[in-house]
Amino acid sequence: MESGRSLDAAIAAFDRALRSVFAPARGSRPAPAPASEASEPLTEAERRVSAALMRVNHSGELAAQALYHGQALAARSAETRRMLLEASRSESDHLAWCETRLKELASSPSLLNPLWYAGSFAIGACAALAGDRSSLGFVAETERQVEGHLDEHLRRLPASDARSRAILEVMRAEEIAHGARAAAAGGRALPAPVRELMRRTARVMTGMSFWL
Ligand SMILES: [Fe+2]
Ligand SMILES: [Fe+2]
Repeated sequence: MESGRSLDAAIAAFDRALRSVFAPARGSRPAPAPASEASEPLTEAERRVSAALMRVNHSGELAAQALYHGQALAARSAETRRMLLEASRSESDHLAWCETRLKELASSPSLLNPLWYAGSFAIGACAALAGDRSSLGFVAETERQVEGHLDEHLRRLPASDARSRAILEVMRAEEIAHGARAAAAGGRALPAPVRELMRRTARVMTGMSFWL
């Protein structure tokens, strides 16, 4: 009975992985739009910068989904699993918004995305094996780092790219909410070396997705 359930969970996780990496992302909400559409067209140099930044954000959202999926698979309580999967659905919206924007910018997602998904899924599962409170602490820390990363991107984005900016601003607000919910649900603060390791891992991913 128990092994049947684990097999079902593993198949569901594999199905989620294939959909996330290879199927076009489908959001449940339309992409946030700027208050005014009257923005100046981007120059070619600006388009390139925006595309590279949005490719990094797309990879980041895919990795966020993979972390949540990995954590959900190994979560101890049904309540934690439900919360993780609910947050992962809002990451699917973020993923779809970034994907749409990348197309508008005549660019495409990172070639390394399958690698980021697999690596992040494994990291998420390991975090969950440390117990639900550590796993929720991991969510809170991840989202805090993502917030810092989005702040940096909002600074680097060309001033005329109001469409990308509108997306990143809503994402930022929602990442903060994910982190706050995880902390309120009992997330335990992570040791400093773990936080530093997370920061370094994210830097490798964002650095490579900028170019590839
Ligand atoms: Fe997100
Ligand atoms: Fe998030």
